[in-house]
Amino acid sequence: MIVAPVLSIYLYMLYICLNWYPGARYVCFCGYVVGMFGLLFVRTAGDCVLMRPSDSSKPSYVARVEKIEADSRGANVRVHVRWYYRPEESIGGRRQFHGSKEVFLSDHSDIQSADTIEGKCTVHSFKSYTKLDAVGNDDFFCRFEYNSSTGAFNPDRVAVYCKCEMPYNPDDLMVQCEGCSDWFHPNCIDMTAEEAKRLDHFYCHNCSSEDQKKLHNSHVSTRHADAKVETKRRRR
Ligand SMILES: *[C@@H]1O[C@H](CO)[C@@H](O)[C@H](O)[C@H]1NC(C)=O
Ligand SMILES: *[C@@H]1O[C@H](CO)[C@@H](O)[C@H](O)[C@H]1NC(C)=O
Repeated sequence: MIVAPVLSIYLYMLYICLNWYPGARYVCFCGYVVGMFGLLFVRTAGDCVLMRPSDSSKPSYVARVEKIEADSRGANVRVHVRWYYRPEESIGGRRQFHGSKEVFLSDHSDIQSADTIEGKCTVHSFKSYTKLDAVGNDDFFCRFEYNSSTGAFNPDRVAVYCKCEMPYNPDDLMVQCEGCSDWFHPNCIDMTAEEAKRLDHFYCHNCSSEDQKKLHNSHVSTRHADAKVETKRRRR
């Protein structure tokens, strides 16, 4: 909470003004140090951070800060974290529909020294991730919670698209059929990505055989996530 550092700075200033009360000195100074630390590194519990892995060849761990604590001297700042798992760290492993920046919020918590924090990162909802104009190194997204003992996901079913009936991978280009509004991977409809990008209108095989003559002025959308997030729900 931003309140903590602000309050401790306030208290420290109060101490400077009222330094006739010696007991306040210690408390306020420690509060100030902890507060400043909190302000510099993790401003709010619930913030997401990258943490240095013990094996430096591995990518940084992604974690959500649940609580920050320090000992009475304001030293040894420790953070309570809840880990995000990368798909390859899950029991089922990485699957084709998992995005490169996808992480799962696990039920696995830990206490870590604050100095393993490398920096802040952002774990977006699936929807807001698909709306990002540019994805930075520290942008991730999460659409599943993950039970680390059973490997189960929540939700256990999500919308699927295309002939391949796969959940949407935001890294992949898809084209939308103007007839049925389903989305398709160029690969699955015998097209290259380049050809798909050049399309003005697209009707999938089923729709074009049904409404061959229909012609609309609307343009085909590519990589437009809104509709995809809300439409069909079939089993994964
Ligand atoms: C994970 O699954 C086990 C077994 O079904 C269950 O007992 C446990 O509560 C689950 N954990 C969470 C956080 O849902
Ligand atoms: C196309 O039609 C067939 C037969 O009705 C159906 O099984 C299939 O799911 C449809 N394909 C799509 C992509 O809607």
